[in-house]
Amino acid sequence: MEVKFNHVTLTYDNGVEVLHDMDFDIADGQLVALLGPSGGGKSTTLNLISGLLSATTGEIYFGQQNVTKQDALERGVGMVFQNYALYPHMTVLDNIIFPMKMAKIDKVARKKRALELAKLVRVDDQINKKPSDLSGGQQQRVAIARALAKSPNILLLDEPLSNLDARLRVEMREEIRRIQKETGVTTVFVTHDQSEAMHVADKIMLLNDGRIQQYDDSQSLYENPANQFVANFIGEPALNVVEAKYFGDGVKQLFNGEVATIGIRAEALTNETNDPAIQMQANVREVLSFGHEHQATIIFKEQHMIATGISTNVIVNKVITIFAKLGGVYAFDNEGHRLSLRGEQL
Ligand SMILES: Nc1ncnc2c1ncn2[C@@H]1O[C@H](COP(=O)(O)OP(=O)(O)OP(=O)(O)O)[C@@H](O)[C@H]1O
Ligand SMILES: [Mg+2]
Repeated sequence: MEVKFNHVTLTYDNGVEVLHDMDFDIADGQLVALLGPSGGGKSTTLNLISGLLSATTGEIYFGQQNVTKQDALERGVGMVFQNYALYPHMTVLDNIIFPMKMAKIDKVARKKRALELAKLVRVDDQINKKPSDLSGGQQQRVAIARALAKSPNILLLDEPLSNLDARLRVEMREEIRRIQKETGVTTVFVTHDQSEAMHVADKIMLLNDGRIQQYDDSQSLYENPANQFVANFIGEPALNVVEAKYFGDGVKQLFNGEVATIGIRAEALTNETNDPAIQMQANVREVLSFGHEHQATIIFKEQHMIATGISTNVIVNKVITIFAKLGGVYAFDNEGHRLSLRGEQL
């Protein structure tokens, strides 16, 4: 089912508008991640899709149908929350059956469907256990199966993996992607973890202060950020941000407009390159190795930067030429808007 927001805003009872002019489309069968810092508006957006909250202004469409005034039940969405509460006294199978029992689906049909779903989420060998006898990941799978029981138009997941340990999170995000691809159900997934969003989603909506900062595939968010917030939020290690005054006019004139800050990806800083690059005289303070990765701290005009493209055999505490590859150098104006390179368009 396609989801469309047409200039939607949301004002809570206290009179504060927390979502501003949300205007977007989620294509049928897509897996979209809502990503952003705490308080950015992810859960509020999700609850507007579900119908648990109703839009203050604007319209919401599922396919051709205007669902703005419909409640959660009428919209036919399946939800999984961060604190997935399975019914503790029921078996796994009965948990999955429960929504279908409430919907008065025939006994034989609902058991058949529950067994299919248990298989889909790979808990078919656990169906007679109680939730407390399952691992966190297994419980989360059961919660997903239960949310899928009534064949929802849309599946909504609010930070479904945040209670799991790091390894299980990675495993479960692959599982969510597999389940979503197998069922084809349009899915919206909330997370504040960029790596989770990038691994799971077809498209990412990055939210901050109740506004869409960028709605794009993960590669475009990384390579072509719309503004300073996006460039800062996406990427690991975080973007190096330096005031433009530390660079000469030659660098500033590479860009269209009034450059206030320069952002340089750690990956773009190297001591050797054939790519178009900005040259800097900088001191390599230290090079640290973490397993197969290494990271250098460099100092350019008293500005500390993290670099991951410096070779480990470089001499430390010596000023050398460092290159910032232009593909990983961004310029922003004083409002944080990204400026294009001369001769190029954003
Ligand atoms: N019931 C409410 N009444 C008033 N303001 C609210 C209410 N719920 C949320 N807000 C405000 O709306 C904004 C968006 O909140 P929301 O819960 O959507 O953020 P979030 O991105 O899901 O954050 P988190 O990552 O912490 O879950 C925040 O500023 C929050 O304080
Ligand atoms: Mg939230």
